[in-house]
Amino acid sequence: MKPTVTMRDNRTGKEYEFEIKEATRGPSVVDISSFYAQTGMFTFDNGYTSTASCQSKITFIDGAKGELRYRGHTIEDLANNHSYLETCYLLLNEKLPTKEESYAFDLELRHRSFLHNELTHLFDAFPTGAHPMATLSAASASLSTFFYNHLNPQTDSEYQEMARRIVAKMPTIAAFAYRHSIGAAFIQPDINRSFTENFLYMLRAYPHERMHIDVEGERTIRPIEVEALDTIFTLHADHEQNASTSTVRGVASTGAHPYVAISAGISALWGRAHGGANESVIKQLEMIGSVERVDEFIARAKDPNDAFRLMGFGHRVYKNFDPRAKILKGLQDKLKDELNLDSNLMQIANKIEQIALSDEYFIKRKLYPNIDFYSGVILTALQIPKSMFTPVFVIGRTVGWISQWIEFKKDTNTKIARPRQLYLGE
Ligand code: SDX
Repeated sequence: MKPTVTMRDNRTGKEYEFEIKEATRGPSVVDISSFYAQTGMFTFDNGYTSTASCQSKITFIDGAKGELRYRGHTIEDLANNHSYLETCYLLLNEKLPTKEESYAFDLELRHRSFLHNELTHLFDAFPTGAHPMATLSAASASLSTFFYNHLNPQTDSEYQEMARRIVAKMPTIAAFAYRHSIGAAFIQPDINRSFTENFLYMLRAYPHERMHIDVEGERTIRPIEVEALDTIFTLHADHEQNASTSTVRGVASTGAHPYVAISAGISALWGRAHGGANESVIKQLEMIGSVERVDEFIARAKDPNDAFRLMGFGHRVYKNFDPRAKILKGLQDKLKDELNLDSNLMQIANKIEQIALSDEYFIKRKLYPNIDFYSGVILTALQIPKSMFTPVFVIGRTVGWISQWIEFKKDTNTKIARPRQLYLGE
């Protein structure tokens, strides 16, 4: 017997039947694509809390258990035993790379990390001090004009070339955006440095001391810093159908260029309710300033008449600890001496967590720390400026967005994303 759900309209007694589709992991779905045709009504789901917008094989989240898997691999395994680039390869190719594949992938991304010289003039259009997220969104859209041939990839190698290009260039775009925002010269990527080390290099090096950045000094890049940032990139790589990924898929559904879809994803991520939260968290911890003032802000977060929210807390899916937050907390504890983490900020964060996890308001609403709650303390210790926190999220997430874009384009059963409404006007 085909599994179905029957809905009865108690105004007319009419019954409607909808098919249930089973998942390989997690919740099944009720296929309501015929709902309007059958009932003449729309379903309503504010913020899509109960709506599956697509089918996907890329990332699985179990919000109750606090579980996250990329292509079936747990985030703990990937963060602890694999590099960010191996995770990129996994997301794009549905399997982890062999040693040879890993080497070739790494080398290809190093070669593709350079920007066309004409594109570098785009940054001049922005005022000094411009937030790098605006520049990243513009630069990503502009990249589509240099590679317009990627509008409609046909073969696997065309999809792969298009994807690797933008994954490789995003750190350079982000670094150049930052350097422009502080009036500093661009540092070209160094092909002898790994993906993650190169990003720190392009942020920190200066032309007059470029030769000496590897000599002991305050801007020297230490392996432990590269390792910490690499883990942070891995934790941000993908996350199912979150707001920015849904935006990327929405743009994909109209047939626009993949790089403008990524540009739209960057814009969506910027909001403080989403990826912009990491920058807001650190500003909030600095504003609270001391553990003595935590109670005052917890009270404000609970006050329905106060718009104040604890940034880095709560999640649409996780109703348990965000597994990425757990990994980052472990990283904080491991690196606090090595990276000289700001103990005051850590103490404030730990006090907030400790109170929130025992307070009825947060327990009832299942509000736990999310990935953004812990990333800022580590990024600060990596001398990454606050304005670059969400661009770091973009660098990590670009591979997830483009993997989801590819999956959408290869799915023969997709339609343009065009929801309806409950009309309450005249
Ligand atoms: C990311 O979706 C993803 O996967 C995103 C992400 C990814 O990797 O792509 O994981 C990355 O965006 C993480 C989330 C980062 N954002 C923040 O940390 C901002 C602070 N958090 C919230 O604004 C909020 O929790 C959201 C946006 C994350 C989730 O919002 P929901 O699911 O729509 O939940 P809600 O707003 O309906 O809140 C439910 C209740 C409400 O109280 P009541 O109206 O029931 O009384 O919980 C309260 C909210 O007021 N609440 C909070 C709170 N978050 C929710 N109260 C105080 N502080 C908070 N942070």
